[in-house]
Amino acid sequence: MQRSTFWLPVLVFGLGLALSLFSCEHAPMGMDEDITPIDTTGNNNPDTTGTDTTNMGTPCDPDVVYFEWDILPILRSNCALSGCHDEITHEEGVILTTYAKVMETGEVKAFNPGGSKLYRMITDNDPEDRMPPAPNQALSSSQISLINKWILQGAKNETCDPDAGLCNTENVSYVQDIQPVLQNNCRGCHSGNTPSGGILLDTHANVAAIANSGRMYGAISWQSGFVRMPLGAVNPLPQCTVDKIKAWIDAGAPNN
Ligand code: HEC
Repeated sequence: MQRSTFWLPVLVFGLGLALSLFSCEHAPMGMDEDITPIDTTGNNNPDTTGTDTTNMGTPCDPDVVYFEWDILPILRSNCALSGCHDEITHEEGVILTTYAKVMETGEVKAFNPGGSKLYRMITDNDPEDRMPPAPNQALSSSQISLINKWILQGAKNETCDPDAGLCNTENVSYVQDIQPVLQNNCRGCHSGNTPSGGILLDTHANVAAIANSGRMYGAISWQSGFVRMPLGAVNPLPQCTVDKIKAWIDAGAPNN
């Protein structure tokens, strides 16, 4: 008796809320599904809040499923909505807003999708028990297989640098792109009255002469037969920088 009097208003309120707001309903997914294919390249716009930045500069491996770029966006847009599995509502204690919370409250077992509550929830055959529950649509098969793959890969929280794969080598400008690199990495040794190796990288004409001789690219790409530049560096310049310099040289080392 007490129980039902307590639940009735809750039920009515809940129903009203559901009908008016379609809370927990994901228009975003259902509608975007066909328009926005799942991006497994890791090139989505990352939400860098709380992201480990130690791997910045590491290009994303297209075969690796990255929690932050690939999985969290799915959970965020389909499950972590207000009224479902956000921090405040946390239906059944499940919170799907951060890696730690997903692992813990979604009971994710690395390498074992079938043993992971999160995976069982999204693949449950009963639409009432499945997450997101009816009348919401189930996650798409590509989203489910991405989550499956992520768990099979160890449900890790690895990061990568999406920008590293998006190096723009078009219309490289000497003034904007090349000069600053030379200034910061090379001119300390390759300018003045006694430039290292007799190589001057000060004026555009001098830089272009070295570039067109093939020695510049040979040296910065650490090809055998060339002295590795910048001298004494443990790692070569970032790949994107090397690629830009190459594109500029290939374009004839213009003074643009
Ligand atoms: C710490 C000093 C130093 C820095 C920094 C440095 N270089 Fe050098 N570079 C040298 C020296 C010394 C040589 C001559 C090496 C030799 O002949 O053994 C040299 C040689 C070269 C050569 C000729 C290489 C060859 O094998 O023909 C090129 C090209 C060159 N540097 C370009 C660069 C560029 C581009 C940068 C910046 C990205 C750079 N260097 C940064 C000291 C430096």
